Amino acid sequence: ISMEAIKYSAGNLQIIDQLKLPSQLDYIQIKNCEDGWNAIKFMQVRGAPAIAIVGGLSLAVEMYSKDFNSLSELKSFVSNRMKYLITSRPTAVNLFNLDATLQSFIDEHSSFTVLDLKQNDCFLPLILHRLLDKLEGLLADDINCNKLIGKNGSENLKRLSTTSVNLLTHCNTGSLATANYGTALGMFLSLHALGKLSRCFFTETRPYNQGSRLTAYELTYDKIPCTMICDSMVAALMSRERIDAVVVGADCIAANGDTANKIGTFQIAILAKHFNIPFYVAAPFTSINFGLPNGKNIVIEERSQEEMTTLNGVQLSVKGCITCWNPAFDVTPGELITGGIITEHGVFKASELKNV
Ligand code: MRU
Repeated sequence: ISMEAIKYSAGNLQIIDQLKLPSQLDYIQIKNCEDGWNAIKFMQVRGAPAIAIVGGLSLAVEMYSKDFNSLSELKSFVSNRMKYLITSRPTAVNLFNLDATLQSFIDEHSSFTVLDLKQNDCFLPLILHRLLDKLEGLLADDINCNKLIGKNGSENLKRLSTTSVNLLTHCNTGSLATANYGTALGMFLSLHALGKLSRCFFTETRPYNQGSRLTAYELTYDKIPCTMICDSMVAALMSRERIDAVVVGADCIAANGDTANKIGTFQIAILAKHFNIPFYVAAPFTSINFGLPNGKNIVIEERSQEEMTTLNGVQLSVKGCITCWNPAFDVTPGELITGGIITEHGVFKASELKNV
């Protein structure tokens, strides 16, 4: 277990304020769904699994201070709060999947009401209790998934070399993007523990710098041998160094394996194909939207041009009439994910992804 970015216990939620990293390690308190929404919207927490966990736990915190008089009141409360939370950011699917899971959880339990009419008094506390259990279990569930992703991925990747591997990643997929341990980065920890990781190369990940600010911080924290490159250096790196595989995370995977991930992922996948380097996506099943046949309809968040023209308030580019296009994600077609999609249920070819 490495850095604890999300701390929760019985109605008390604290998260690392990622806006202050790497210079300060501060925790902020999340007291309700408004705080959760703001933390997600303004990137105090980011990364697809972490967004869903903080959203879900902010709902749990709010449920602690509320009394419900009927099942329908509870149901519409959860539904309204989740509908609000999913307006924070559009691309990462995990929070949307959590919304669907909670709705069907309540629906399944509601169908018992007729049988339990006589015990209606104790039925509401019971379902409330189970719902809280489910939300409070999000942290442990995600850690279990990440450990399995680490295991499945490291078994697959260690076959790529008789000694140890050099890997390249993009964006941030570690403890700061998940409940703990991480997806792609978690797998690097597994390989490192097995003595099978030679070096982790990572991009700075312009324009938001998740790589230089967050991945650099995590790899240093976990003492992993690592080298940072600018996003524009990937082709040069692949032509000069032995890179055994590229492993990235995911914000939304469509049923055919097309994968939305941090902007720049697609061009790295094209380069990997050119250099014959296996390209992997590591993600839990909560990052898959089986309702989307392909990646065409994934909603891509567009962010402000200040992220490109300024850095910490310092102007980098001429002020005035330039326009910038700043999509936060791109979609890598499934056929470029040549290594496979590493999940808690095994490693799948993009075309063979199945709901289990
Ligand atoms: O904009 P962000 O920082 O939320 O984007 C994060 C990414 O794209 C990650 O690679 C992805 O969410 C996987 S996190 C395990």
